[in-house]
Amino acid sequence: MSKRIAVKDLNVYYGSFLAVEGVSMTIEPRTVTAFIGPSGCGKSTFLRTLNRMHEVIPGARVEGEVLVDGSNLYGTGVDPVVVRRQVGMVFQRPNPFPTMSIRDNVLAGVKLNNKKISKGDADALVEKSLQGANLWNEVKDRLNLPGNGLSGGQQQRLCIARAIAVSPDVLLMDEPCSALDPISTLAIEDLIEELKQQYTIVIVTHNMQQASRVSDKTAFFNIAGTGKPGKLIEYDVTSTMFSKPSVKATEDYVSGRFG
Ligand SMILES: Nc1ncnc2c1ncn2[C@@H]1O[C@H](COP(=O)(O)OP(=O)(O)OP(=O)(O)O)[C@@H](O)[C@H]1O
Ligand SMILES: [Mg+2]
Repeated sequence: MSKRIAVKDLNVYYGSFLAVEGVSMTIEPRTVTAFIGPSGCGKSTFLRTLNRMHEVIPGARVEGEVLVDGSNLYGTGVDPVVVRRQVGMVFQRPNPFPTMSIRDNVLAGVKLNNKKISKGDADALVEKSLQGANLWNEVKDRLNLPGNGLSGGQQQRLCIARAIAVSPDVLLMDEPCSALDPISTLAIEDLIEELKQQYTIVIVTHNMQQASRVSDKTAFFNIAGTGKPGKLIEYDVTSTMFSKPSVKATEDYVSGRFG
């Protein structure tokens, strides 16, 4: 299930603006990789290229390759809808469909993929996905109530359940805890630790403690100035990135001297 991502010489544009330049990196299966760096350095932009969500913005485009287990997501004839099923995404603000029931929220992605599914299979999938997102016990008696009746942390876990219900190989998370309280944040971090047994996980975070707690490897992105492209500055084992990084800018950033 879990797959290796290999990015080769990726340039990412919004129209004529080069937002991210020259990224090459390999992300191993069954690992958590944290993307860190100051605001505007292109973390979200780069993350969205990993499931072809970048190109939904008019004028946005990508040069280079993103290989998932060797096949290029940007190859000719590749259907972005299929890519997005393979590479799921969880956003900064929990975004369940507010009036849809908890059950239907979990099934939303599956139904979007036009899969015909029996009631029994749907029930089993809802339970399995909610179990996987550590939410089952809290919601099993109110599956038919709307998703917006849950707390922020529960809504975020519901979004994770929705993402894993389609059985992706990779899970991308863009600051998934930034709208959450510390207890919900720890619940999501525990969940990430469990999910990495099955998925390749990439998480963008501004929280250095979180990066060091949850990730195996850390990628530091930076930007030389306004209007300049963001670049991958250093990418290494997380403990190395936080204890003895090779690049001065990484050290300054992780020690809180800027950013
Ligand atoms: N839809 C867009 N159209 C044009 N430019 C954009 C768009 N989205 C982002 N950008 C620009 O791309 C650059 C990178 O932005 P991005 O959102 O990827 O940064 P980030 O590292 O995720 O920042 P943050 O930590 O604040 O979330 C910025 O200069 C930003 O203004
Ligand atoms: Mg961002």
